[in-house]
This record gives sequence, C-alpha cells and structure tokens, in this order.
Amino acid sequence: MEFKNLLFNLSNGILTITVNRPDKLNALNKLTVQEIQQAINSAKENPEVKGIIITGSGTKGFVAGADISEFIGLSPAEGMAMAQAGQDVFKFIENCHKPVIAAVNGFALGGGCELAMACHMRVATDNAKFGQPEVNLGLIAGYGGTQRLIQLIGKTKAMELHLTGDMITAEQALFLGLVNYVVPQAELMARCIEILERIKTKSPVAVGGAINAINAFFTEGVDGFKAEINEFGKCFSSQDFKEGTSAFLEKRKPNFTGR
Ligand code: COA
Repeated sequence: MEFKNLLFNLSNGILTITVNRPDKLNALNKLTVQEIQQAINSAKENPEVKGIIITGSGTKGFVAGADISEFIGLSPAEGMAMAQAGQDVFKFIENCHKPVIAAVNGFALGGGCELAMACHMRVATDNAKFGQPEVNLGLIAGYGGTQRLIQLIGKTKAMELHLTGDMITAEQALFLGLVNYVVPQAELMARCIEILERIKTKSPVAVGGAINAINAFFTEGVDGFKAEINEFGKCFSSQDFKEGTSAFLEKRKPNFTGR
C-alpha cells in the first residue's frame, strides 16, 4: 500500500505512524485522513502489530488541525460530509481493539487535538500546545472535538476552550486530565513505548474488551454496565483467560496469545 503523507516504523510489535507534512505542521488534508484510516485498518489486521503510536513529524507540530486550505468554497453539505468522514475515521481509531497512544510532540490544534483525543492515551512533550481554535476561522470543531473534550476534561473547561479558541500548555493539559503524561521532547517515544510494552504483556483479548467496555460509556443508546457484563463474559471463552489464571496458580508469568 502506498502512503503519501504517513511514515511507518514497526519495531517489537509497536507500529509508529507519523503524519508527515512538516511544511504544513502536519495539517490533516483529506488524503491524510483517508491514509490514517487505511493505516489503522491494516494495523488492526496485522498480527505482528500489538500497539500503535500516532505522532507528527518534526519537533514543532503534532498536527496543527485540518488543512484550512481545503475549507475554501465548501457548501454546508460538503462541510457536513467532511465532518462525517473525519468523525468516522476518528471513531475507528477510538474503537481499535489494539491500544493507540498519541505522542503529542508539538501543536495539537483543531483536528490535531481531536486526533489525539480519539487515541486511547496521550503523552505530550513539554512544548506541546493544545486547543480548539476553530472559532478564529468562523468554524467549530467537526471531528468530534466538541464531544470528546467534554468527555475528557468536563464541560466547564471544554466550553471555555471551544469558545475562546485559546491554546493551553502541556502542563495545563495534564492538570485538566487531557493528557496522561508530560515528558521532555527527547523522552517522548521512549515513554510511549514503555507504556505499550507494559500493555503488550497483558491479554490482548482482555485489553480489547476493556477498550470496548470503556467506550460503551460514551456510546449513545448503549448501557455501559451491560457492555461490561458482555465483555467480562466473553473473556471466559478465551485461551488467554485460561492461560492467565493457570499462570497465576502455577506462580509463573502468563504467555498470552490473544486468542
Ligand atoms: N492548515 C493548513 N496549513 C497550515 C495549518 C492548517 N491547519 N497550520 C499550519 N499551516 C501551515 C501554514 O500555513 C504555514 O504554511 P506556509 O509556510 O506555506 O505559509 C506552515 O504550516 C507553518 O505554519 P506557520 O503559521 O507559519 O507557523 P507558526 O509557528 O507561525 O504558527 C500555528 C503555528 C500552529 C500557531 C499556526 O500555524 C496556526 O495557527 N495554524 C492553524 C491552527 C488552526 O486554526 N487549526 C484548526 C484548523 S480547523
């Protein structure tokens, strides 16, 4: 598969996907959004991939938003189609059964903040900046940002960030619960890898089940407690469950296969 705007590195089961439009601060044009979906889809299917990191190229930008140049001349219907397409891709990331971490190495604005929020966890460098500046353009967020920011930090601050368009620092993002960790630039990838290495030692069946049950809390019309019961029950049919419990009783480390 040919990718124009993404770079890949697969090492020890961890796939790093780098959005690579550094001259545009990795802004997400249509093609890049499509490529992200293809990349996540093939990562889901590839048994060698145990975890995914999404980052941006360079040290200044994670992703500085949707590509503003592609907004020009869009009709309301075309705007809606664009938002729908973006939301579909970001939901696809959110629902990936393999863990996805955003390594936020700089500006995460607009669609960049939304991309980071669609990932399961976020690690930011101390120079990273977050924001939903769409109001400056006469727009609002369209890739799920109005909803996910509330989910992650609550309505009070989400409302403020969307209405003012203000950027916040990585430290503020940490304080608000928008990111899991803030690290110096040089330690970013190592920290993301360390988290995924820890998750890699767990049962992939259970990890996927936990992602599904947690996401169910935010899914309209779905009873999250019921989803948890279903996912819990499903675990009992897995080889991983047998292995995990046997290993505990035999006082050894489990060797999970994801089956
Ligand atoms: N869409 C398209 N191009 C973008 C972009 C975006 N969202 N964000 C940055 N770029 C481009 C700039 O146009 C510039 O391209 P050029 O060199 O061809 O003119 C290049 O990336 C570098 O950005 P620049 O603005 O010169 O860098 P800066 O350090 O002065 O400012 C930002 C950085 C992030 C503050 C500024 O680029 C910005 O405000 N970007 C838009 C953020 C935004 O509104 N995102 C939400 C979109 S819905």
